[in-house]
Amino acid sequence: MRIGLLHSTIRGEEKLLIKAAKQRKVELKLIDIRKEVFDPECYQVDFDVALERVISNVKGMYAVRFFEALGVPTVNSYCVASIYEDKFATSLALEKANIPTLKFALVFDEKQALQAIERLGGFPVVIKPPLGSWGRLLAKINDKDSLEAVLEHKNVLGSPQHKAFYLQKYVSKPGRDIRAFVIGGKTICAIYRNSAHWITNTARGGRAFNCPVTKELADLCKKASKTIGDGVLAMDVIETHEGLKINEINHTIEFKNSEEPTGVSISGAIIDYCLEVANAKS
Ligand SMILES: Nc1ncnc2c1ncn2[C@@H]1O[C@H](COP(=O)(O)OP(=O)(O)O)[C@@H](O)[C@H]1O
Ligand SMILES: [Mg+2]
Repeated sequence: MRIGLLHSTIRGEEKLLIKAAKQRKVELKLIDIRKEVFDPECYQVDFDVALERVISNVKGMYAVRFFEALGVPTVNSYCVASIYEDKFATSLALEKANIPTLKFALVFDEKQALQAIERLGGFPVVIKPPLGSWGRLLAKINDKDSLEAVLEHKNVLGSPQHKAFYLQKYVSKPGRDIRAFVIGGKTICAIYRNSAHWITNTARGGRAFNCPVTKELADLCKKASKTIGDGVLAMDVIETHEGLKINEINHTIEFKNSEEPTGVSISGAIIDYCLEVANAKS
């Protein structure tokens, strides 16, 4: 079995994946997607499964679409990635499957934002770009004045994508949230991300500590993973007074700072999962 590692810049995560494959004596073909010509009439596929690790989400999604069209199984699949790249699509899928998640709405204008906020339980709310990551461009909106200001800035300065306003109820949490690493439906490990700031991303200074995988967490993540289809996923989970709720689900996951606190080889589990996917196809 040979894994095609679709990549652009090789980051810490890709180095760990290369090392894990070597340890398992699994052949890995590095495919820098920036140097490829994705023409189905002449492309020679010489691997059994494609693992997407491209930094640009847009480019990664095109590469996945291409290989799936050629009949190559991909991790993650196009279907899984296309839902989880978008917070609104993710929320809709979770809601439909009755999986505990934060209350949300999507609007295009201030008047409708006020209506939605009322239904969400009033201020504060959080506004997020539906396609964002790393905690960027999130805004906690405490009142009508700040709502007006933020929406005006987005409308005047933002790209079309930033003119879709994804709103969530702001949930108070215990100075941390949970990131669960869910591979093939199994939560292999999790971290707490502790932060004095309400945005706990490690990219924003949150610190990672091991989080025990309780039955509640494992069951929630398993159920969530089955909603669209299993893959290699990182689920952001918030501890609320009503129990655990999923905030968002990530594909093309970052994990380089989570192997040490958890003591789990996430890279190894990803390689093993790719082999499983390839074997299931053959
Ligand atoms: N509705 C919310 N209530 C409380 N905290 C939130 C809420 N939404 C996001 N956060 C905090 O902000 C972080 C980043 O939000 P998230 O939705 O995961 O966006 P990103 O894709 O940028 O990581 C979360 O990990 C959490 O700490
Ligand atoms: Mg997140």
